[in-house]
Amino acid sequence: MISVVGEESREKLLPYHFIKMKKRGKKIVMITAYDYFQARIADEVGVDGILVGDSLGMVVMGYKSTLSVTIDEIAHHTKAVLNASPRALVVADMPFMTYEISKDEALRNAGKLIKLGADAVKLEGGVEIADTVRALVNSGIPVMGHIGLNPQRHLVIGGYRLKGKCAEDALRVLEDAEALEEAGAFAVIIEFTAAEVAAEVTKRLKIPTICIGSGPYCDGQILVFHDVVGLNPEPPLFVKKYAQTYEVLKSAVSTFKMEVERGIFPDKERYYQMKEGELQKLKELIQRRERKM
Ligand code: KIV
Repeated sequence: MISVVGEESREKLLPYHFIKMKKRGKKIVMITAYDYFQARIADEVGVDGILVGDSLGMVVMGYKSTLSVTIDEIAHHTKAVLNASPRALVVADMPFMTYEISKDEALRNAGKLIKLGADAVKLEGGVEIADTVRALVNSGIPVMGHIGLNPQRHLVIGGYRLKGKCAEDALRVLEDAEALEEAGAFAVIIEFTAAEVAAEVTKRLKIPTICIGSGPYCDGQILVFHDVVGLNPEPPLFVKKYAQTYEVLKSAVSTFKMEVERGIFPDKERYYQMKEGELQKLKELIQRRERKM
């Protein structure tokens, strides 16, 4: 049963709850996750949304960019996240070339992720993908937009540069946002865009804006899991590391290695022994067997 208040109770969050959160002025908190335990951690602290982002290409697979990520990889990690049964809204990212070729392909690929159990999909782009967004929404697939810097286009836009620094560029970001809202998107991510532009978009849209590297004036914030917990030693500048887990994990693995090499692990509490007298019996059985041979 879905609650009317949704985000105030412990019941499942869905896209329409995000719109209600904007109306109420409740800041929306999202984080990426790619596996069962990351999703459990995110959900136990009560984040509103989990994105199975194509950033998994870099932080999970070690690819150079998101361009190599496939729909099967997103599906695989979405399954892992869904196994944690999160109350948070689960958004699955549509990888490069899974929605640009035709609306039919976009529907087929988005449909796969929704059939797995994702609550929504996310597509990069604005005005130019509005018709695809409309087709998805009309078929019952909730869509989160993604404007400002679109990493899937880094080859044509000349890298990962701040968007909206000048008025013309800023206006394009606003027009992208309006086109997505008009096409039926329920929320839009604004990536690496000047803070004033994100503020203007946030003011003009009815659907919530969720920022990454675009300042404090959005309806919510999202960061990549590995950046938040400090598992990525080289995160972007706009990231705040809330822990230093790379160092913590490295030190744990290093101590394990040292203890095995020095015979410290496993200690007495960490292994099991035969019942009393059974070792002697085993030795006799072995001797008997050897005599027969
Ligand atoms: O893939 C991802 O993690 C994203 C976020 C940066 C918003 O798209």
